[in-house]
Amino acid sequence: MQAREQIVREIADQGGWISFARYMELALHAPGAGYYAGGSRQFGAKGDFVTAPELGDLFGRTLARQLAQFPDLPILELGAGSGALAETLDREIFILETSAALRSLQAKRLGKKARHLDRLPERWRGIVLANEVADAMPVHLVAWRAEGVMERGVSFQNQKFHWEERPATGGLQEEASKIRVPYPYESEIGLAARAWMSTLCERLEHGLILVIDYGFPRSEYYHPQRSAGTLMCHHRHTAHADPSARPSDEDNTAHVDFSALAAAARDAGADVLGFATQAQFLVNCGITDVLGEANVENALVYAPIAAQAQKLLSPAEMGELFKVLAVGRGITPPLLGFSRGDRSHAL
Ligand SMILES: C[S@@+](CC[C@H](N)C(=O)[O-])C[C@H]1O[C@@H](n2cnc3c(N)ncnc32)[C@H](O)[C@@H]1O
Repeated sequence: MQAREQIVREIADQGGWISFARYMELALHAPGAGYYAGGSRQFGAKGDFVTAPELGDLFGRTLARQLAQFPDLPILELGAGSGALAETLDREIFILETSAALRSLQAKRLGKKARHLDRLPERWRGIVLANEVADAMPVHLVAWRAEGVMERGVSFQNQKFHWEERPATGGLQEEASKIRVPYPYESEIGLAARAWMSTLCERLEHGLILVIDYGFPRSEYYHPQRSAGTLMCHHRHTAHADPSARPSDEDNTAHVDFSALAAAARDAGADVLGFATQAQFLVNCGITDVLGEANVENALVYAPIAAQAQKLLSPAEMGELFKVLAVGRGITPPLLGFSRGDRSHAL
């Protein structure tokens, strides 16, 4: 069954309305039908978006310098996409991937180098990597209005999806009421990403979790001027803000509230070890040295690598919007990637 039909059926089963979080979960992750079930077509220049590892190996080779601080810890990559990052890293990798199609693609590309896990281990001593995974977690949409806090959801009438609001309840209402914004104001609350971070930290016996994604600390996320939130849909490199246009045929994502992830980690007893922009993190890790290893005399070789650096570091591209959050247990700082410009205090 197509994701659209699954969503329509679920709306009917639930009495005519589902939360946007449930809608997004089905659109992205419905087994065999959601966006990520479609395999690799979404990645790369011909797909819907390009991630840092998809640009080339500069990102992975630079990140490897941070990982080299812990040569004995095994690496678990969550949501490995096309397998580009795992291929670059010169170490054995465990992968946890929710999409069956991407899982088989990764297995084909990586062969014996990668081992797939069926579920998150109950206990993990090692490193966890999640590049552009947190933004794919379903978010609740909340509207702060004069009459109170509303949850935005989806109904289906006349063969079309419609936005419909209901008063927010339970944990969502509680979280929303802690956020001070001028109304009217719409934004997202990532309850699933927080729960994910809690679980990761609870199961981390010893080691490090690196979450890399686009997002902000809370004060910027719920900035008075960001009154329409951060939800975006990506289709063939164009972005728009109506997620019901093509459910499951495009990526629905929201920026990550890094303060919420840090709080979830602390609540689970983990330490926040660093928070920096992607540009600062990569510079700290020595991206310029990695660039210097390229053959600078051959422009044909050097130009594409320099172009990768520009994308990864430029404030107009991924450099500022993307952040790196490190949390861990039993790890003594400093970590290489946060040796300068650590912004943990802003979380
Ligand atoms: C935007 S892609 C990023 C892929 C890759 N990390 C990269 O940087 O190119 C999101 C990936 O996360 C996977 N994913 C989404 N939610 C997940 C979860 N809860 N656990 C593990 N993987 C997940 C998707 O199937 C996909 O592989």
